[in-house]
Amino acid sequence: MLDKLNEIQTTALADIELALDEASLETWRVAHLGRSSDLMQLFNRFGQLSKEERPVIGQRANEVKKALEIAFTARSGQIRQAALKRSIEQDRLDVTLPGRRLPLGRLHPDTQILRELYRIFGEMGFQVYRSREVESDEYNFQLLNFPVGHPARDMQDTYFVENEGRGDNPIVLRTHTSPGQIHAMREYAASNPHNPPPVRIVLPGMVYRYEQVDARHETQFDQIEGLAVGPGITFSDLKGTLADLARRLFGQNVRTRFRASFFPFTEPSAEFDIQCFLCGGKGCTVCGGGWLEIGGCGMVHPEVLKNGGYDPDRYTGFAFGLGSQRIAMLRYGINDIRYFWENDLRFLEQF
Ligand code: FA5
Repeated sequence: MLDKLNEIQTTALADIELALDEASLETWRVAHLGRSSDLMQLFNRFGQLSKEERPVIGQRANEVKKALEIAFTARSGQIRQAALKRSIEQDRLDVTLPGRRLPLGRLHPDTQILRELYRIFGEMGFQVYRSREVESDEYNFQLLNFPVGHPARDMQDTYFVENEGRGDNPIVLRTHTSPGQIHAMREYAASNPHNPPPVRIVLPGMVYRYEQVDARHETQFDQIEGLAVGPGITFSDLKGTLADLARRLFGQNVRTRFRASFFPFTEPSAEFDIQCFLCGGKGCTVCGGGWLEIGGCGMVHPEVLKNGGYDPDRYTGFAFGLGSQRIAMLRYGINDIRYFWENDLRFLEQF
């Protein structure tokens, strides 16, 4: 048995040199120190030894076990050291290299211009009122004086979302922010139906049209609607508000003009234009004739006031709807509206 023990020790210590990683070392441990190993099997057979043999063999068996355990611990340390050395060499860190610049996010130019508009209108006493993007035909058209089949609907061809079983009142993506006028007036009027409070709000948000896309027309774009309702509000208030807005946005020398126009929900109605900075008023692909149309406006039609819960004999109001991307184009010198939603970083990183 002593010979067998010597052989176990010699073989095991030779084998351990072949263990090069944690997995093969574990295989070695199971083979030479595990419950089924030759060494452990010998311990189990001690009962069969004579009284004289037992202490001699027992002592030698313990020595072999100790020797194997020491070899295991030592080899395990060597393997870990070697792995650490390898990883340090492979993933070497050069602390003298310059750091990688992290790309910094920023606000989209349309968001920037909208926030600037909120600030300017806020200074003039307008509050921001949010309204829904998915509307009914009734709110988007009918309550704004576009009855079913009215030719003015052609100005704002739209996307129908849900038609079935709704007759003349299908669900549409709003074509303008003007239906928010009715929602807002109704909400304000509900707070005091016999004596509704004055309204001074701006309604921003995305609108959708079935549109021929070109340098100044997109199929979805942001508008910012303005609505002021109260006793004695006049067209001069409207002109003053929009002219002041243009000066605050573009400086004292900005040139603006109002052109007579038609909207079913305002009377009288006008278009509000700003002289194009891109071409200095000479005419270019963006503006056409030297002026860029920024928005429509007018005095709120008496029928619309009534639909909102305001008595047109006691109240008047003005409203406007501006295209925020058109304003951003003038502000930042952008010559094509299609850049806004293309998500091209070469464009976005300039703002
Ligand atoms: C309207 O949408 C009316 N609701 C505006 C209004 C509100 C009039 C309140 C009176 C009272 P219009 O279709 O003209 O009107 O659009 C208003 C502005 O949105 C335009 O002057 C322009 O700046 C912008 N706009 C219109 N169509 C597009 C388009 N396809 N792409 C980008 N901007 C557009």
